[in-house]
Amino acid sequence: MSLKITPLDAGLGATVSNIDISKPLDAGTIAALRRAWLEHIVLVFHDQSLSDPQLLDFTRYFGELEYPPYKLLNYSQGSGQKADIPVEINVISNVIEDGKKIGQLGNSEAKWHTDTPFVEQPPSASVLHALELPPSGGNTSFMNMYAVLDALPPALRARIEGRRCKHDVSHTSDGVLRHDYEESKDASECPGPWHPIVRTHPESDRKALYLGKRLYAYIEGLPVAKSEAVLDEIWDIAIRPEFTCEHVWRMGDVLMWDNRCAMHRRDEFDGTQRRIMHRSQLKGEIPV
Ligand code: OGA
Ligand code: MN
Repeated sequence: MSLKITPLDAGLGATVSNIDISKPLDAGTIAALRRAWLEHIVLVFHDQSLSDPQLLDFTRYFGELEYPPYKLLNYSQGSGQKADIPVEINVISNVIEDGKKIGQLGNSEAKWHTDTPFVEQPPSASVLHALELPPSGGNTSFMNMYAVLDALPPALRARIEGRRCKHDVSHTSDGVLRHDYEESKDASECPGPWHPIVRTHPESDRKALYLGKRLYAYIEGLPVAKSEAVLDEIWDIAIRPEFTCEHVWRMGDVLMWDNRCAMHRRDEFDGTQRRIMHRSQLKGEIPV
């Protein structure tokens, strides 16, 4: 059976079937997957079973591997990940073993964000593989940032076109102050890099809104209150359901998303249940 790409009935995303991504892939298949990924932004593969090396091999078909945030930011406390896990793998989990967290993000809601916008050169893609899931909760939603940009009223778009946004590094996407950082008084003073709010996707050549996350975001050159008001106006439009899709995880799912033109969020789930996902990421470009 040949590769099948089925778009989701939603604002973005497609399911890929008739493929076992643990196996070596030929050039034609890789090209077809890349085309589908650029077009649909999020690819969903069901019923996969990948070891860490297989997850990394699959990811490498699309570019150079990037390290997880704990390594990029040199967390003084390390990641807590077990020693036998490759350093390119980011464990996303609420599980605690021997009193230590084995991964990131816990069990609470992860608000809308892109991955690692708080470095100069954020990853272009993340690939997330479900290894253990709670019976319910922890659904992950995605947002089409091309479509959100296109939906902004012209006056609002004119306010942000050509401006940059500061991407706070001091808090995680679940809003927690990172160990190595101090709380800032206002968003304009948070540490973090500047990125254009409207960026051009280097492969599709299309413009997308690049928001990072809402918390402690700050638009260059505006008084903080004004920046907050403009960002609130943008976010009110962005979170409309027509720009999104929601993924209800099944064991073995692998999701690959384009971090340059999508945001994502995750629902909370029962903290007494185990959830373990392994993530790889691709090295990206400096946003322009
Ligand atoms: C991530 C992330 C969501 C999830 O891995 O970047 O946001 O479903 N995860 O765990
Ligand atoms: Mn994320």
